[in-house]
Amino acid sequence: MSIPIIFDTDPGVDDAQAIAIIMADPDIEVVGLTTTFGNVHVETATRNALLLTELAGQTIPVAQGAAAPLVKKPFPVPDWIHGADGLGNQQLPSVTGHAVDTTAAEFIIEETRKRPGEITLVAVGPLGNLATALQLDPSVKDRVKRVVVMGGSIAKGGNVTPVAEANIFSDPHAAARVLTAGWSLTMVGLDVTLNTVIEPERMQRIAAKQGELGPVLQRSYDFYAEFYRNAIQLDGCCPHDSVAVTWLRHPELFTTQRGYLSVVTEGPAEGQTIFAAEDRETPDQRWQQGGLVDVCVDVDGRAAVDWMESVLVR
Ligand code: BDR
Ligand code: CA
Repeated sequence: MSIPIIFDTDPGVDDAQAIAIIMADPDIEVVGLTTTFGNVHVETATRNALLLTELAGQTIPVAQGAAAPLVKKPFPVPDWIHGADGLGNQQLPSVTGHAVDTTAAEFIIEETRKRPGEITLVAVGPLGNLATALQLDPSVKDRVKRVVVMGGSIAKGGNVTPVAEANIFSDPHAAARVLTAGWSLTMVGLDVTLNTVIEPERMQRIAAKQGELGPVLQRSYDFYAEFYRNAIQLDGCCPHDSVAVTWLRHPELFTTQRGYLSVVTEGPAEGQTIFAAEDRETPDQRWQQGGLVDVCVDVDGRAAVDWMESVLVR
């Protein structure tokens, strides 16, 4: 039986890789893609989501969502990392399809009403769509099977500020609501995603098997790889968003800890995720709000990228 998911995304190079995986994996049923601002403006995220499904020859509903953070002023999109088009500044084929009429938050609410207890939300961008769904219909939290979030960092520091990871930094108020909503949730943050690397040769093997999608993924990877080379002298790219998908399919590759998350929403540390382990005694109950979650703290990074490749070259 395949796992039904709604994939909430801001494609984005590593989002595109993850979308390729979920479309290729027969053990995942993609109920829909919901889009958000983040790596790109939301209209571009929607265009890219539609394009990726069309290049893969799949018909998957795409619902457009958050165009801006809930509270904070948006920062410029990181076009030096993902390109202004989100896919490495390349000549992209045109798109024929359109987004559905419902918003991303409405799509999440409606689909989970049709299939209560079945759908997992895999969120790999800023968390405004999930926060809005919770606000419009708080009972959505009881209908979702689980939420898997690529975002945050506990021990590795941030990738935007010294303490904040990009998805959480982009909308800390949304993240605070989502990470403390009290639903079954797994956080897949930089603590594990930075331990995974898709090397150039591996990417070539993957792209060669993707048909029309292959050249688009390869060119976007090449742009992203240039960023990694300059920023951290890495020969390869961290497939952050695909690691969240890997947790969904192979949780045995990960070590998790159970506890409570808090998100800093104001000041220079905004976007920081702070973890209080379940067994950490404290007299201050504010550290134990919002329900217990699972946080990934370690991963067999080589096995994770081996699995990604195995799905994409099968
Ligand atoms: C996350 O931020 C985005 O740039 C990536 O797509 C990923 O979701 C990594 O911090
Ligand atoms: Ca992303």
